[in-house]
Amino acid sequence: MRYHFYIAIGIVAIIETVFYFYWQPGLWSLILFGPLAFVGFIDIVSSRHTIKRNFPVIGNFRYILESIRPEIMQYFVETDTEGRPLNRIFRSLVYQRAKGVNDTTPFGTQQDVYRPGYEWLAHSMYAFHSDQLNPDPRVLIGGPGCQKPYNASLINISAMSYGALSQNAILALNEGAKKGGFCHNTGEGGISPYHLKPGGDLVWQIGTGYFGCRDQEGNFDLEKFTEKAKLDQVKMIEIKLSQGAKPGHGGILPAVKNTREIAEIRGVDPHTTVFSPPGHSAFSNPEGLVQFIKTLGEASGGKPIGFKLCVGQEEEFIDICKAMLSTGIKPDFITVDGGEGGTGAAPVEFSNSLGMPLRDGLTFVSNTLIGFGLKKNIKIIASGKIISSFHVVRALALGADLVNMARGMMLALGCIQALRCNTNVCPTGVATQNKMLMRGLIPKDKAQRVANFHHETLKALMELLSAAGINDPCELKLNHIYRRTSVNVVQTYEQLYPRVKEGSLVASVT
Ligand SMILES: Cc1cc2nc3c(=O)[nH]c(=O)nc-3n(C[C@H](O)[C@H](O)[C@H](O)COP(=O)(O)O)c2cc1C
Repeated sequence: MRYHFYIAIGIVAIIETVFYFYWQPGLWSLILFGPLAFVGFIDIVSSRHTIKRNFPVIGNFRYILESIRPEIMQYFVETDTEGRPLNRIFRSLVYQRAKGVNDTTPFGTQQDVYRPGYEWLAHSMYAFHSDQLNPDPRVLIGGPGCQKPYNASLINISAMSYGALSQNAILALNEGAKKGGFCHNTGEGGISPYHLKPGGDLVWQIGTGYFGCRDQEGNFDLEKFTEKAKLDQVKMIEIKLSQGAKPGHGGILPAVKNTREIAEIRGVDPHTTVFSPPGHSAFSNPEGLVQFIKTLGEASGGKPIGFKLCVGQEEEFIDICKAMLSTGIKPDFITVDGGEGGTGAAPVEFSNSLGMPLRDGLTFVSNTLIGFGLKKNIKIIASGKIISSFHVVRALALGADLVNMARGMMLALGCIQALRCNTNVCPTGVATQNKMLMRGLIPKDKAQRVANFHHETLKALMELLSAAGINDPCELKLNHIYRRTSVNVVQTYEQLYPRVKEGSLVASVT
């Protein structure tokens, strides 16, 4: 189907050539169709643009429209929670950084700075050049009992499974992670050969389906877990409790994307829709969770173990903290995903009306850990619409130690937000299992873009820090961020998201 238009042009061009020799007036169409056939040939053999490669000739219209886009595209832009045109500004930013082209903008801000919700970072009179900062600060993940702590980058690839994404996308992400020295979360679909081949650092995510470490009945299988957890490439293990786009639902792999190979990796039947259970069968209460953390830590040979959640009922998280205190077993990291998080497929209500948004969830988790005196040895990873380096700064100020990005990395791979991830017809080859479509995505090229995006975002982050006179990301404080809360009121994050005192909640347990 994708080639029909181009093939038709080719056939017309050949017929016209034949006609030309017998019937002179055919010349006009040869002039028209000959160059189109040539353009189509160049599109197919070129590796620069996935859309042109996948849709020769006709794919060029996308780039022509993109070049005259600004006003037209406004109709299609998704806005962030404050109504800001997230797509137009940030999508271009990711493309520019991924391609390594000029990422500056002309003329000034494109935001309404008097609109409630507008936020900014307070700069310093004593700003300095970002060259003076460490260009790649690291965060050591692993509490006192951890035998193999991991030295993580500030920005990493968030969980997205092989199944949701294509094999070429996974290859590109992992190779990008290797080039840039950051880590790549496998997503709940488990470890595939495409995660392993490039050799980039992995965080193995264990979801409620226990894919890659499940028995016949779908329960957790310690033996299978131990075998893979010991792989050198697996640097950390993340237990997925929930994700922001569909908390309390469990993953969905549509039948059309569940190929024979993916089914084999996951230990399920091919060509059926796979729903991961909403909750874990390996534990059912806070003590069970912390014991599971201990089991995984021992079986993995002492690698950092953490869990990912989107905050729901607050007392449940408080109970987990109490279990950490009573048993002495603590995770090495906690990933907080915002309700605004992304997904390959989810019910509409779950994406829009469940799960605490990132800023609130992060504040709550951070304050609860500080209040229980637990924060010192537990790193917090934040995710949820973090795309620009200001978003990273904001998350760090709110209490995160490092961040994960999913959709930002998809954009770096060439995603155009066609919103077809759940249908297997993603035109850019990022979120499809259709071999013809994924052919357009060349892992080697896109790996470089992923690495570029990471590098440029980190560089921009260092520039923001030096503009604020900050020497180290961990010096970022709540009062560095301002927010207009109504037309004539501006508040700092310190006023909006007050910190609790270290250990102040411990008394409530004892
Ligand atoms: C295509 C896709 C697949 C995802 N798969 C998973 C998954 O397997 N496990 C998980 O915990 N989160 C998954 N997520 C959620 C992301 O890891 C991340 O938490 C969320 O999208 C917020 O980050 P973002 O705003 O940078 O996209 C997925 C997201 C996308 C877009």
